[in-house]
Amino acid sequence: MKQPLIVIEAAATGYNSEVVLRDVGLTVYPDDFIGIIGPNGGGKTTLVKLILGLQPLFSGKVLFPSGKPRMGYLPQASQVDRSFPITVKELISSGMKSRNTLIPYLNAGQKQRLEEMIREAGLQRYANKPIGELSGGQLQKALLCRALIDDPQLLILDEPNTHVDKQFEQELYRWLKRLNQQMAILLVSHDIGTISPLIKSIACVNETLHYHPSNQISEEVLKVYHCPVDVIAHGPVPHRVLKSHDHE
Ligand SMILES: Nc1ncnc2c1ncn2[C@@H]1O[C@H](COP(=O)(O)OP(=O)(O)O)[C@@H](O)[C@H]1O
Ligand SMILES: [Mg+2]
Repeated sequence: MKQPLIVIEAAATGYNSEVVLRDVGLTVYPDDFIGIIGPNGGGKTTLVKLILGLQPLFSGKVLFPSGKPRMGYLPQASQVDRSFPITVKELISSGMKSRNTLIPYLNAGQKQRLEEMIREAGLQRYANKPIGELSGGQLQKALLCRALIDDPQLLILDEPNTHVDKQFEQELYRWLKRLNQQMAILLVSHDIGTISPLIKSIACVNETLHYHPSNQISEEVLKVYHCPVDVIAHGPVPHRVLKSHDHE
C-alpha cells in the first residue's frame, strides 16, 4: 500500500473568524489526478491555500505522513498582476525555493534547469521580456514552469484554463498527462466537461468537500452535492464526445 502525500481530516478554515470550509476530508496519493470543481465562491482556492499552508487551520488536521512534499502551485490568473515588472526568466526562477535570494544570480545547475523549462514551454523568444508582453496562454505556461522548476511531488493548478485559447488548453492537458506519471496533480476547474478525460477522481467543493472516486459524475450527483458547474461546456458538443476525446 503506498503512503499518501497528504491526509486532511475534518478540517475547517476561513477568513478572520468566518468559516468558509468545514468538515473537509481528502487523501492525496502520489499518483493521483484530482479534479477540484465547484461553484464560484465555493472554497476551491481556499482549499488549495489550506494544502499549501497559506490558510489557518481552525479545526481538524492536515497531515503529511511522509514529510511535507515539494509542492508546485499555479495561482488563479486573477491573482497575478501582469504589470508587475519582472521578466519571464525572473518569474520562472522565483519558483526555486532552494535558491539563495541574497545572491542575485543562479548557479550552473539552476541555470541549466531554467533553460530546460523555458525550452519545454517554447518560451525562448520571451525569456528576457517582461511578463506583460505574454499572451494569456504564454503567461500560464510561464507560471507552470515556475510551479515545476523545483520538481514537485504535488502540482496544484487553480483554473489554468481561463483566459487561454483552445490550442493552449490542449497543449496544457497533454503536458499535465505526462507530468502525472511523475507527480500527483490537483486541478481546479469550473469545467468538468473538458477535464474529465484527464482526471482520475473528482472533489466537489462547496463549503465542504464531496470526494468522487471516478472521473465521471452525473448532473444529478452534482445537484445532490449542491455543486452547480458547467457540465457541458461547449454548447452543442455533448459531454459524451468529450469523454472519448483523446488527449494523447
Ligand atoms: N481574502 C479573503 N478575505 C475574505 N474572504 C475571502 C477571501 N478570499 C475568499 N474569501 C471568501 O471565501 C469564500 C470562498 O472563496 P474561494 O476559495 O476564492 O472560492 P472559489 O475559489 O471556489 O471561487 C467566498 O465566500 C469568498 O468571498
Ligand atoms: Mg478560486
